[in-house]
Amino acid sequence: AASAMWGGRFAGGPAAIMQRINASIDFDKRLYAQDIRGSKAHCRMLVRAGILTAEDGEAILGGLDKVLAEIEAGDFPFSAELEDIHMNVESRLAALIGEAAGRLHTARSRNDQVATDFRLWVRDAMDGMDAALKGLLDALLSRAEQHADTVMPGFTHLQAAQPVTFGHHLMAYVEMISRDRGRLTDARRRLNESPLGSAALAGTSFPIDRHFTAAELGFAGPMRNSLDGVSDRDFALEFMAACSICAVHLSRLAEELVIWTSAQFRFVKLSDAFTTGSSIMPQKRNPDAAELIRAKTGRVIGDLNALLIVMKGLPLAYSKDMQDDKEPVFEAADTMELAIAAMTGMVWDLEVNVAVMRGAAGAGFTTATDIADWCVRALKMPFRRAHHVAGSLVKLAEDKGVGLEDLSLDEMRAIEPGITDEAQRVLSVEFSVASRTSFGGTAPQRVREAVAAARAALDAE
Ligand code: ARG
Repeated sequence: AASAMWGGRFAGGPAAIMQRINASIDFDKRLYAQDIRGSKAHCRMLVRAGILTAEDGEAILGGLDKVLAEIEAGDFPFSAELEDIHMNVESRLAALIGEAAGRLHTARSRNDQVATDFRLWVRDAMDGMDAALKGLLDALLSRAEQHADTVMPGFTHLQAAQPVTFGHHLMAYVEMISRDRGRLTDARRRLNESPLGSAALAGTSFPIDRHFTAAELGFAGPMRNSLDGVSDRDFALEFMAACSICAVHLSRLAEELVIWTSAQFRFVKLSDAFTTGSSIMPQKRNPDAAELIRAKTGRVIGDLNALLIVMKGLPLAYSKDMQDDKEPVFEAADTMELAIAAMTGMVWDLEVNVAVMRGAAGAGFTTATDIADWCVRALKMPFRRAHHVAGSLVKLAEDKGVGLEDLSLDEMRAIEPGITDEAQRVLSVEFSVASRTSFGGTAPQRVREAVAAARAALDAE
């Protein structure tokens, strides 16, 4: 049979396969709360504008509350024949309150309806993700504060480069995650305009009040162009772009956890709560959560790409292609929720192997830069020559199979006669990190200041 919602000009019903490809209810049912909220705002506006009688308005609002309660109680008869959440809700409303239900869709189209619902959903997702990231920042900051003095090797090319502190390393992620939150805030501000009242694409001849519905739904105001209102999904793209960048940050930290927990590094130990064993190798403690965070980044980036590609060829205004906007967004949001929660748990629980980190910090001649800097300061040597001196010291130590700090004063003087025992002092990793006092540098004092500033900003929110 032809659809009760739009079947006026149809004689027959859709093929079974048409129904399957067309129906979105299996996934867009997640928009139910936003759909009902949007419909209630629209209904109130219609009554105020004199388009609906107060009586019909009351019936509709009461009916929508019942529909909401049914869905939340888990006994709502979702139907694929009714395509999507919008028609499922409206059809149930009609069953509950009769003819008045048919007046709700006055001066509205599913095009502005879905755009409104989806904006509301993405806005909630942004707020949820922001709160989760705030929790992750709390964990990172607490651990950074505990380890402001913990010396570890800093790497470039994954080769030991210069000593840094573990606190400084964690604070790098605090910066990244803070920018991720900033991206969400920026995107939310651009998202927060109401498409409701754009109608199908051209606006409507009814005397609607778009400013009223926008305010009811917490939007800053109505979108200024009805074609744009129903046909852009840039808000969803921006959300997924912010998710993707954040996922990349989480993935890099996850990768570091995988490296650091290996027997070759042993810098940190994950708690039992965030590791798994092997069914064959009894000694294994696998960092599965970190690996999965690393893997799921691919999905989130894929979700962003999926919608970018859906949108790129669409003429204005609405095309049904746009119904495929929801699954990527849901997947990206769900994946981020899981990844952020898992990372937060791992960071809180992390056992830091301070002695191993410290030992590794000096391996690989990581204080070679410090001796070069000393030659520049104490001997007024040009840096390029100092670099050469330090390089010769490294070569000697390497040939002897010892660390830089194990070279005797005589051995060092044979390479550069100006070297004194004071120069030997700068070879300790503690001295090295303590000397990096430039703004943003790794000196424990600077790290503590950075933690305090970030903590104060977080507490002031
Ligand atoms: N289920 C549709 C979607 O998600 C609702 C909008 C339908 N509009 C239309 N003109 N067929 O995009």
